[in-house]
Amino acid sequence: MKLSVIGCGYLGAVHAASMAELGHDVVGIDVDAGKIELLSSGKAPFFEPGLPEILASAIASGRLRFSTDLSDAQGSAVHFIAVGTPQRKGEQAADLTYVNAAVEGLIPFLTDGDLVVGKSTVPVGTAADLAEKVSAHSNALLAWNPEFLREGFAVQDTIAPDRLVYGVPSGVDGERATEILNEVYTSALSTSTPLVVTDYATAELVKVSANAFLATKISFINAMSEIADATGADVTKLADAIGFDARIGRRFLNAGVGFGGGCLPKDIRAFTARAEELGRGESVAFLKEVDSINLRQRDRVVDLVVNAVGGEIYEKKVAVLGLAFKPDSDDVRDSPALDVAVRLHGLGARVVATDPEAIPNSRRLHPQLQFADEARLAIADADVVVVVTEWNEYRNLVPSDVSSLTHGRTIIDGRNTLDPVAWRAAGWTYRGLGRP
Ligand code: UGA
Repeated sequence: MKLSVIGCGYLGAVHAASMAELGHDVVGIDVDAGKIELLSSGKAPFFEPGLPEILASAIASGRLRFSTDLSDAQGSAVHFIAVGTPQRKGEQAADLTYVNAAVEGLIPFLTDGDLVVGKSTVPVGTAADLAEKVSAHSNALLAWNPEFLREGFAVQDTIAPDRLVYGVPSGVDGERATEILNEVYTSALSTSTPLVVTDYATAELVKVSANAFLATKISFINAMSEIADATGADVTKLADAIGFDARIGRRFLNAGVGFGGGCLPKDIRAFTARAEELGRGESVAFLKEVDSINLRQRDRVVDLVVNAVGGEIYEKKVAVLGLAFKPDSDDVRDSPALDVAVRLHGLGARVVATDPEAIPNSRRLHPQLQFADEARLAIADADVVVVVTEWNEYRNLVPSDVSSLTHGRTIIDGRNTLDPVAWRAAGWTYRGLGRP
């Protein structure tokens, strides 16, 4: 099928390349000329495992090209809207400027029978508004098809998603939209991927409620880690034990410095703002608590570091291992790791931060920080070491090797990812969150 993908960020670039990889003929469109130039030459503008490989093969096949010109969407049968919906400056709500601009800009290039497919995460009610705009100017249809990809696994999540959700209009238009989407996703559907076909509002809510649930799960276990700290209990064992209950499940029960990234934090805030607009603020008031618990974890990690050096952090050297919001990503949007580095620097510590992929993005936002390309360099002569992103190379650090480099012997495990027994056996003071 001929597809256009409008917006070539984390979501759109992966979607465009993956759809081409599956055999579709795709044009990716973005207003950022630098990004389009990189993508056109087969280079990914951000770190995402597997993306460079499929970009190169799809471009070589002739099925994938990129453009800054929306008129290049003309001739495609399906147009995916994959632009960002960031948090509005100084507010909790989502900023729909880019979604509105993408749809309005696309309308003149639509032809009869085209399908516009929203993939961006939007406040409930957005799809219905956009459908009206689309139908007022053309005979095209609109569907909402939320995306559940995880950074770090984005290619695999797009090519083989764990479920597909279509929000479609009622009646024959809905049947037509469903048929078109089924053709787009033939490959995933052929492997019995679960499919939910529903209305716009449900499809929009599926996405935000999924992220709200995941955020709640993480804040739940972080709250338990606070209680564990107050009682000498071990939150990791607690998570293992409750996780054996299939109704609860062990995944997303890792206590630590908390969730970040371009999705979970802004999505729970936008959901709260939208619920308040709908007069249902109290229904999701707990999400404010989820947000506060999450932000509190950063204070806890900073406190652990300060306490590790006896309460006076000024001029102490702190090695911060990790800057990305999670491993296998260079994304530092709302990253707890980067925030911890910035706060410690603000307290007067000599912070040297490192990350396998996220230094350039961190430096752009916080040029005041000192960065080291390798963990060994960051660790050298440190008074205290803090792990805030669980990259494998930090999880696999050998305590005795680190001992020969540092000044102090305290390690703060902001992701509860290290083995306390091994570190203590090597003479280290180990502190995690909610671990005795
Ligand atoms: C999240 C969702 O998981 C995806 O399903 C969704 O499609 C995506 O947002 C989106 O809305 O686009 P992502 O932001 O890539 O994906 O990251 P996650 O893997 O969900 O991790 C989010 C944060 O939670 C990370 O900072 C991670 O370190 C943290 N986390 C995760 C924990 O602190 N504890 C855990 O047990 C799990």
